[in-house]
Amino acid sequence: MTRRAIVAANWKMNGDLALVNTMVSSLTNIELQDNVNVVICPSSPYLSELVVKARAGNLSAAIQVGAQNVSEHESGAFTGEVSTQMLKELSVEFVIIGHSERRSYYHETSTQVAHKVNAVLKSGLTPILCIGESEAERATEQTETVLASQLQPVIDEVGIEKFIDVVIAYEPVWAIGTGKTASSKMAQETHQFIRQFLAQANENVAAKVPLLYGGSVKASNCEELFAQPDIDGGLIGGASLHAEQFKVICSAAKGK
Ligand code: 13P
Repeated sequence: MTRRAIVAANWKMNGDLALVNTMVSSLTNIELQDNVNVVICPSSPYLSELVVKARAGNLSAAIQVGAQNVSEHESGAFTGEVSTQMLKELSVEFVIIGHSERRSYYHETSTQVAHKVNAVLKSGLTPILCIGESEAERATEQTETVLASQLQPVIDEVGIEKFIDVVIAYEPVWAIGTGKTASSKMAQETHQFIRQFLAQANENVAAKVPLLYGGSVKASNCEELFAQPDIDGGLIGGASLHAEQFKVICSAAKGK
C-alpha cells in the first residue's frame, strides 16, 4: 500500500510578500522523501504571487499552493467570497476547509463544511478537511462522537468513494497555537479512530486517505508524530511562518 504524506503550511492571517519570497527561496532544492507533497496556504491576496514565484524559482512539482477557505457557491452576489473557479484559474490545487477557527469565529457548520467539500471536489481541487475536538470535549470523553459528527455530514453529502480525493487534518482545538501538542500516542489513537470510522463505510478508501495531524507541530516533535502508523504528515500553523523550521518539518515527512 502507498499512501502519500503531506505537509501543509497554514499561514492563517499572517505573512506578507517578503515571506512569499523567503519561503520560495528556502524551499528551492529541498530534499523531500518519496511520495511527499508540500502545500503552502497563504491568505488569498498572496496566492497568485506564490504560484508565479514558485514557477519562476523552479520549485519541485511536489510543492503546491492551497487556499485557506472557499465559497460553497459557484458565483454571484456573495461579497467578499472567493470561488473554486477563481482558485483554479490561479493554479491553486488545495483548499483548507472547516478549520476550527472558521467553525468557531465564522460559525461554519458541518453542513456548510460538507457543501464546501463538495464544491471543491467538483471543481477538481483537493480539500483538506479539518476536524477536531475542544478541550472540554476531550475532557468529557466526547472526542470520538465529535469527530464522527464532523465527518458524517461530509460522507453523506459527497459519498465515501469521493474521499479518495480528500485529505483530512485532525487538529485538536486545544493544541492549536497553544504549544500543547497531543502526545504521539494520543494523536495516533485518534487517527486510528478516524481511519476505522471511514473504514466502516469503505475499507479501501480509508486505507488511502492521508490523515494529517495539526496543533503545535514543530521541528522538535514532527519526527515522532510522523513516525506513527496513521499519521501521514501535518497541518502546520506557527512553525510554517519560519522558513528554516518549516523546511525541517517537510524533510521529516515520509509516504507510507
Ligand atoms: P499551530 O501549528 O500554530 O498550533 O496551528 C495549527 C493549525 O491550526 C494549522 O491549521
